[in-house]
Order: sequence, then C-alpha cells, then structure tokens
Amino acid sequence: MTLFTSSLAKTGPTMRSNYKKLIKQGRVGAVFNAYGANFTRKLQKMAVNNSRLGIPLLFGYDVIHGFRTIFPVPLGEAATWNPHLIGQADSIAAREASAAGLQWTFAPMVDIARDPRWGRIVEGAGEDPYLGSKIAASAVHGFQGQNLGSLHTVMACVKHYAAYGAVIGGRDYNTVNMSKRLLRNVYLPPYKAAVKAGVGSVMPALTEFDGVPSSGNKFLLNKILRNEWNFNGFVVTDYTAIPEMVTAGIAKNNKQAAALALNANVDMDMQGGVYLKELPKLIKEGKVSEAQINQAVRRILRMKFKLGLFKDPYRYCNRQRQKKEVLSKSNKQKEREVAKKSFVLLKNKNSLLPLKKNIKKLAVIGPLANDKEDLLGPWSGAGRKQDNITVLQGIKEAVSPSTDIKYARGTGIRDSSTAGFAKAEKIARQSDAAVVVLGESRDMSGEAASRAHLDIPGNQPALLKAIKKTGTPVILVLMNGRPLTISWANKHIPAILETWFPGTEGGPAISDVLFGDYNPSGRLTVTFPRTVGQVPLYYDHKNTGRPMNPNNKYTSKYIDIKNTPLYPFGYGLSYTTFHYHDLKLSADSIGMGDSLRVSVEVTNTGQRKGEATAELYIRDLTGSVTRPVKELKGFQKLELQPGETKKAHFIITPKKLSFYNINMKDVEEPGKFNVFVGKNARNVIKSHFTLTK
Ligand code: NOJ
Repeated sequence: MTLFTSSLAKTGPTMRSNYKKLIKQGRVGAVFNAYGANFTRKLQKMAVNNSRLGIPLLFGYDVIHGFRTIFPVPLGEAATWNPHLIGQADSIAAREASAAGLQWTFAPMVDIARDPRWGRIVEGAGEDPYLGSKIAASAVHGFQGQNLGSLHTVMACVKHYAAYGAVIGGRDYNTVNMSKRLLRNVYLPPYKAAVKAGVGSVMPALTEFDGVPSSGNKFLLNKILRNEWNFNGFVVTDYTAIPEMVTAGIAKNNKQAAALALNANVDMDMQGGVYLKELPKLIKEGKVSEAQINQAVRRILRMKFKLGLFKDPYRYCNRQRQKKEVLSKSNKQKEREVAKKSFVLLKNKNSLLPLKKNIKKLAVIGPLANDKEDLLGPWSGAGRKQDNITVLQGIKEAVSPSTDIKYARGTGIRDSSTAGFAKAEKIARQSDAAVVVLGESRDMSGEAASRAHLDIPGNQPALLKAIKKTGTPVILVLMNGRPLTISWANKHIPAILETWFPGTEGGPAISDVLFGDYNPSGRLTVTFPRTVGQVPLYYDHKNTGRPMNPNNKYTSKYIDIKNTPLYPFGYGLSYTTFHYHDLKLSADSIGMGDSLRVSVEVTNTGQRKGEATAELYIRDLTGSVTRPVKELKGFQKLELQPGETKKAHFIITPKKLSFYNINMKDVEEPGKFNVFVGKNARNVIKSHFTLTK
C-alpha cells in the first residue's frame, strides 16, 4: 500500500533517500520515477530477494504523451479530434514504457479545463465532456490494450479525480468550489468513461470537492466511484496527498489523515509514507480494521497478478526489447502523423500558406525556431532533446536545394533584451517570407505552472511587431501549452499556425503543413479568449436571463470587450474551404424510446483535398434546470477531394439528451431541442425537434 519515488526523476515536492532500504525490508509495494530495463531489474531484485514475502514491485511513471518517442502534448493530441489515433499514440507509449521496465502509467489525465491560466490544461483534452469522454476511453484502451498480461501494455491510471481543472482563479492546487450538478453534468463524464473502459487505477485530485480533499472524500470515492460506477481496480493518491490533508485542515495529524483516506477506500499512498507509519497504530486502536487493509491489498495484488509480475517479476526488464522498441522508426513516423494532425490553422489571409518549396529566400526566426528541448512540452517521460528535430531543421529538409534559408533567434522566450532584433529584421527584409516561431517554454505549462497573463511572453511580441514592420509576409508558428491571447497577431499577421508542443518529430511535421504536404485538419478543443479578463470562457455556457445584447446596457457583458472569443471551440481552418448544407432530421418529433437520425452534407469548395470535421451540437431549450446554449453530441471527420460532397450521419438517442435535473436524476426531459451542425461552435446551421413523453 506504499508507493515511493526513486531518485531518478523528481515530480513532486519531496524525495526519499532511504527507499532502497525500505524496498529490501518489504515496506514498499510500488516505485515510481524509476525506469529502464537495468534499473528496474536491480530494484526488483531487492524486493524479490530480500523482502519477507518476495512480492514483486510495481513500477509506475508519468508516461503522459509518450515514453521516449514524445507525441504532442495531450491538448495538441486532442486537437486531432481523432480518439482512435490518440489511442494508437498511447499504445506506442505503452509499448516503449513496458519495454523499459514499466507496468503502470499515471495517465490519462481527463480533467475538464476551462481556465487557460491553469498550466495543467495542457495535460488534458480541453473543455468539453463529450469529446473528453471519447478521448479518455480511447486512451485507456490504448495504454491497456486487450489484456494487461501482455508484455506490451501498461496499466492506466485515470486522474485527477475529480474536477481538479476547476481550481479557482486557475491557480494550481487551489480550492475547487462547484455544485454537485455541475460536477456530474460536466466534470465527471470523462472519468466515468475511463472507468467504463476498464481503467485499472484511479488517482484522486490534490484538490478538494465540497470541502473535503479528494483523497478523503467519501462522496467521490465510495458513493460515486465504487458504488455507482462499480470500479474494482485500486485507488492511488497523488503525491503526498494524505499528509497534505493535515495542512488543508481536515485532519489533525497524519494518523487521522491515514484513517480518513483508508475509510474513503484509498488503497495506495503515493510518497506520503503515512500508511506505512500510521496504519499499524490505527489497527491497534481499532480505528480501521484488518479487513479494510486486506481489501486494499487484494485490489493491488490483483493488478500485480494481472500484469504477470508473479509469473515473472523481471518480464518487463529486457534490455534487448528496450533497444528495439524505444524510439523505433515506425514510432517516430506515427509521431509525425499525430503531430501534423494536431496543428490548428488559425489564420491564413490570401492563402499565404502553404509556401512553395522552391521559395527563393526564407527567414526562420524566433526563440523556438531551433530549440530542441521545448518541442517535448511538459511531462516528457524519458524523452531526450537530442532525439528531436527542430522547425529550422525540418524546413531545411523540406525546401528545394536552391532555397536560401537564414536563421535568427531574435530574442529568448522570456527575455527583455532586444539585442537580437537587428539581425532578425535584417534577414526578414532580405527574404520572401518569414516564419516566426514563438510561444511558451515547456515549463510554462503543466503542473505548478499557472499564469496570470496569457500573452506570448517576454519580448517576443515586440520581435513579432518588428518583423511585421519589415513588410515581408510573416507566418507565425506558435508553440504553447494553453490558449494564448493573440489579438494583435490575429489582426496584423496574415498566417498563424498553432502547433502546441509537437514532440520528437515536431520540425518535420510543421514543415509538412507549411509546405502543403499535409493540409491542416486540427480543431481547437479549448476556446481562445481575446483577453485574460474573459476567462473562464467556454462554448457551452448558459444563456442567462439577460443574454448579451450590444444595444441594451442591462445585459450580461463587459463594457470594454466583446463577449465572444477570439477563436471558438471547434475552430480550425484548412487550405481548402468547406460548405455545410442540407441538414436533415429523420423526424420532427421523437418519443423516449426512439432515436433521431441527423445528416448533413459537406462540400469541398476549394482547390485541394482536405479534411472537414462536422460537429454536432444540441440545445435543450427549456429544462427543470437551465441548460447550456450548445452541447457537443457528435463529430465526424470527412476527407474530401476538391468539389466532392459527402454526408455525415449522426444518431441522437434520448440518452444523449439526459442530464442531472432538478431532482439530481440523470434523465432526459421532454421538450424542444435545437440541433446545430457546423465547422465550429460558432459557425453552424440549425434545425430542431421535439422529444415527447
Ligand atoms: C503529481 C501530479 O499531480 C500527478 O499528475 C503525477 O502523476 C504525480 N505527481 C506523480 O508524478
């Protein structure tokens, strides 16, 4: 029931120097932040050969978007709107991780996030529960495969249960304050989808729900997770979450905190060391029972059996396999595919993109243009910067031999110096186009990386302005882990490509899009605000009794900025154009046992092959509680040749219309519904139907 970190990597505030001794004594059941066939074998030997019962250790690690082959950060992966592809990426991550001694990953992170100040928005699928649930299920299947006993899969751990993404003010680890209805309607569905997909373990959030930290929260853990969802894997806390319940003020001391956690069915203590120390006393005092301990141990051992560790504790420690599997050519190819599909074309005035490969002179500028490390993004597993290909390198490989490429860094990511501006301006002036690669460093998002500002940091906006001033056409390539406020760029820069943190093959993937070998198809899964003062800003908000009306002072709005986002949820351009038409419903009205068929036709009205994403939204016009103005209920990708038309089909079952109503029952209520289909949450065509009793 005790999980300790090794000293190979640091992912939290404390370390342990004595973990090896404790392993030998049989006082540690699992180790995290230890990987590699040799190292895990060494630690495994300590447990198997020395401890009283010789029970093998379980090795866990944060394999979040790849182990050594690093895929785009999860927010980027989500922008593919392709859960199947994300599952493939996770299964590659599992293959590599399991070849390097691991059996367990602390992923997927499925926290709905609507506040881009929160750095961990980068780790999840964005703001929407429907899309988030599809991705959560695919990720679990990707990591775990059909069978945990396979040598090529790892056990997943869905986190951070629950509603961690709603920390007040977007400040990491802060309090969460929300109604049970909002929790159930919006925040819980992705965790539930992961449990339904068979996830082996669950990690409670470091935050609280309704006044009780998640690791001691019986409502979340006993009532919902165990009783309603019948979860039968094990629950592992987050880093030192049990002792932190003392600091949070819900337990007087560690002993009380341990009892609180065990009574909430928390099976494993990550790095707290509190179960190890306090449970024997608590049993003696009769505060917890041996039966409770047995139950937790049984849940953990069952997983160790399933993973085959009792059959052979060293089955995952195979150097030959590690060498063969990790960073293989085919893994890198898949990474490049996922990366290019994750990019979102935000603007492309007068079709500046794609660039011609035989462009004569090209300037490549910016602190992220030739940076190997930041490509990894946060939580980069065992990723190494030397394996990555930068944007500059990718461009050099893509263009014709006669193209003259000049590079200038211009400034640092968070610098205030302008010393590099002159050179950057000079090469821009001499070139036919300038690709300017700006954004955040990888440590500016992820855990403990909340920001109060959402602008492109440091002197980079000034650099962008200076390059723009040269008159050379500018393509802005962004790398970042959250929505940034880029109103100036949106107004003045003709082409903008959002590439998140694209991973190992980031440079070539970006070149694929810049030079038209791939027509961008990514769509935002988070709303981009105009300014930080608008957040939290998300598409499925409520209407209110005074919806925004620019001609009426007494309506819900700001006096100094529009209500609308800069780019809405679901947004993303292509090198071609799509026309959505002929939205058809199979009936005007359906009964509770029926389902409605919806179809829409999409025509490629441009000159290139491209991929459209038909997004289906509904609105329940009147309910026993107020309902959002739009909710995503389906999406479909369509690949279309120029001039081609295809039909997207959707089925709306009454179940898809259900929500936690005034009586906190998950039901669909009869009444009128709008149906919208379109290219994003703003640009839609509309119809309606009635659900009758
Ligand atoms: C703390 C983070 O909140 C969690 O996501 C991670 O899995 C653990 N540390 C382990 O590194």
